Amino acid sequence: MAEETTFYGLVEDLEKYLEYQRDEGIQRLEVHRSVLEALAKEPEPEVVEEIVVEAAPIPTDFQSLEAIATYISTCTNCELCQERNCTVPGEGKAESPDIMFIGEGPGAEEDAQGRPFVGKAGQLLSKMIDAMGYSREDVFIGNVVKCRPPNNRKPVKEEMDLCLPYLRQQIGLIKPKIIVGLGGTAMEGLLGRPVSITRMRGVWQEYNGMKLMPTFHPSYLLRDPSKKKDAWADLKLVLAELGKEPPARK
Ligand code: URA
Repeated sequence: MAEETTFYGLVEDLEKYLEYQRDEGIQRLEVHRSVLEALAKEPEPEVVEEIVVEAAPIPTDFQSLEAIATYISTCTNCELCQERNCTVPGEGKAESPDIMFIGEGPGAEEDAQGRPFVGKAGQLLSKMIDAMGYSREDVFIGNVVKCRPPNNRKPVKEEMDLCLPYLRQQIGLIKPKIIVGLGGTAMEGLLGRPVSITRMRGVWQEYNGMKLMPTFHPSYLLRDPSKKKDAWADLKLVLAELGKEPPARK
C-alpha cells in the first residue's frame, strides 16, 4: 500500500534534503514562491498513531563470528536498518590478532560492499596498517555500528548502545592483544561516554580488561594531514607494547 504523504512528512523530507545539501557545501537554493506559501499555511493538527519500536534482545552467547554476522544481517533493532544495503560486521584475522581496529560505522562504499574501511578512509587505514608492518589480513577491522548512518552522519548514542552487544561479543571471541579506537565517535561508543579525542589520543585506556589505544580517525587525517604524525606516534606506542618496531620504510 502506498504510504500517505502528510504535511509533516513533507517538512521532514525537506529538512533532510536541506541538511544534506548543506553538508555538501550548498549555501543557496532557489525555492518557488508556491512552496513557501504552502509551508506557511497552518495545517490541521494530525492524529499521529504512535508506533513503538522495541529493540529485540541480542543473544549473549554467540559461539562464532559467523553466527554474529548472520544475526546482524537481519537485525532491525534501530533505524539504521531502514536504509542499509549491506550490513558490515567486520573482517580480518579472527584468532587473537595483535591488533583490532575499531571505527565508527560503515560509509557508502562499505555499505555497498559489506566490508569495513574499503573507501578513501579505508585506503589510508590500509597504509597505516602497512606502515606498522602488518597487512589487513593480519589484523581485525570492525566498527561500533554495523549499518551505514544515512548521509554518513555520526551514529547517535542510542544506535551505538543498541549495536554494542555485537562488538562486545566479537571482541570476546577474537581476543585481540590490543584494540585501536579510531576517532572520538568510536571511542564514545566503546566507552559509553563523551570523549575529547584530541586529549585522549595516545593515552592508554582499558576496555573489558584489554588495552585500548585511541587515535585519530583516518577520515579526519584525510581532512587534516598535519595530524598524521600524532596518529603515527600513537601507532608506534601500540607497536612498542607488542614488543615490535616499525619496519624500515620501503
Ligand atoms: N569509517 C568508519 O568508521 N568505518 C568504516 O568502515 C569506514 C569508514
